[in-house]
Order: sequence, then structure tokens, then C-alpha cells
Amino acid sequence: MESNEAVAAATSETELKAEEPIHNNTHQPTSDTCSTEENVLANSITYYSNAKKYWSNISPTVDGMLGGFGSISFIDIRGSEQFLKHLYKQKPAPGRKRALDCGAGIGRIAKNLLVPLYEQVDLVEQDEHFCQTARVELADCNPKLGSIFNSGLQDFAPEAGRYDIIWAQWVLGHLTDRDAVQFFIRCTKGLARGGMMVIKENFTTTNIVEVDRKDSSVTRPLAVMKQLLKQGNLRVVKEQRQTSFPKELYPVYMLALRPLIKN
Ligand SMILES: C[S@@+](CC[C@H](N)C(=O)[O-])C[C@H]1O[C@@H](n2cnc3c(N)ncnc32)[C@H](O)[C@@H]1O
Repeated sequence: MESNEAVAAATSETELKAEEPIHNNTHQPTSDTCSTEENVLANSITYYSNAKKYWSNISPTVDGMLGGFGSISFIDIRGSEQFLKHLYKQKPAPGRKRALDCGAGIGRIAKNLLVPLYEQVDLVEQDEHFCQTARVELADCNPKLGSIFNSGLQDFAPEAGRYDIIWAQWVLGHLTDRDAVQFFIRCTKGLARGGMMVIKENFTTTNIVEVDRKDSSVTRPLAVMKQLLKQGNLRVVKEQRQTSFPKELYPVYMLALRPLIKN
């Protein structure tokens, strides 16, 4: 998230108009906005290939993952730890065996948040170079490091019943609404008994979906995300805003989710 850029997320049956200029990915509000009705993501193939190209030019570092805001990583991880801790007060509490880090980048979250808490951690990440870096970064974590899947979330299906926690952070804006919903449905099937999905994303302060054409992503209003989650058979069981982030960044919320329908 570079200081002069913004994060973005996708809308409904949307598609990107290829000829329109693109903005960035992670954290500052962008001026390029559109309503859900306008449907931003017209051509999902272009949408994904643009994002792929964008990330292939980003350095495989924490700063690269966070658009130049590497310094917030510590606060981010502490906030996530606290949030996870509260989830274990819920009944049934999730297990502590397996976690999945979605859009894992170089494994920042896997290494600092999930590996200390779970017996085994898998990663899924679309960029091959980031996957290689994650393998190096997590080399000391063996045998806790499980599989690293080099795949876009739009094409990825978690193994049924495998995960106690599925964590998706700062990546869902790279999925079209349709793919996000389908991904959520697949995740509900990938959860173990008592398992939960957690999403941690930027959200707009208005009811407008903001498009970032530089990194091919969108930032959604919280209400839009909640609609998608519902369509994806997920219900919100806990919601919390991340505190102590720089004021110029988008508000970041953590949402803990359980399947709507018992699977
Ligand atoms: C802002 S970085 C966040 C990385 C990591 N979640 C973190 O917080 O450190 C976004 C990551 O999502 C990945 N990504 C982008 N589009 C994706 C997609 N369709 N499927 C899976 N990963 C994707 C990028 O390659 C990049 O590693």
C-alpha cells in the first residue's frame, strides 16, 4: 500500500473495463470510485492478469506486501492475535490443528500469527516468486509448514473439512464478487467441525466500491462484503476494527465467520 495509492475491492457481477485506468491495492482511499450497480469488474480475465502483473513487480518483502507500510506489520499481527484469542471463547471453539493463510504473499501472517498457534499451516498464493520466498521464510518452522499452493483463490478449493482457521487478509479485493462468493462457499466446505474463517480487509467509509486500477483490486463497503458473505453461506460471529493504524489508511476490520448451513 503505497502512500499515494489506495486499496480496492470488487463488486457484484462486475467486470473491469480493460481500457479504463487502474489504481492500486492496499491502503489509502482512492479517488476512483464506482457503485456496485455500475459493476466494475467486467472482464475477470483481465482483472486477474493485471493483478498478477502488478504483484510480479513487487519486492518479496514485508514492505512490498504492505505497500510501503511494513512498519504496521507488528501492530497488525498483535491485533489479529487478540482477535483470535477471543474466538476461542466461543462455543464450539475452533480446533488448533490446521490453519490456511489465503493470499499469503511471502508468509508474513503464516509465520508471525498462525505458525505459533497451529500444528500445521498451509498457504495459498498466486505469485510463484512469493511462494518461493515464503518457503525460505518459513523454513525454520518445519514441521509446522504444510503445503504452499501456488494458485489464485478464484481457482482454489480447500480440502474438505481440513481447516480449523481459514485466514484471508488484504486479498479479497482482488476477487470479483462472483468469485469471492464461490470462494466463500468452498471455504465453508474446507472448515473442520467448529472451524472459522477470518477475513481482515480494508473497507470504505462510504457506500461506494472504490476501484484501484493500478493493482486491479477494489475496496468494498462493509455492507457490501456482508452481502457477499451471506451469499457465500457465511455468517458473522464477531467483528472488530483494527486499532492504532495510521489515520490515512482505510479502516480495517476483522470478521470471524461460521458456515450458515451446517456442512
Ligand atoms: C497486500 S498483499 C497481502 C499479503 C498477505 N496477506 C499479508 O497480509 O502479508 C496481497 C497478496 O495477495 C496476492 N493475490 C492477489 N490476487 C490474488 C488472487 N487472486 N489469489 C490469491 N492471491 C492473490 C498477491 O500476490 C499478494 O501476495
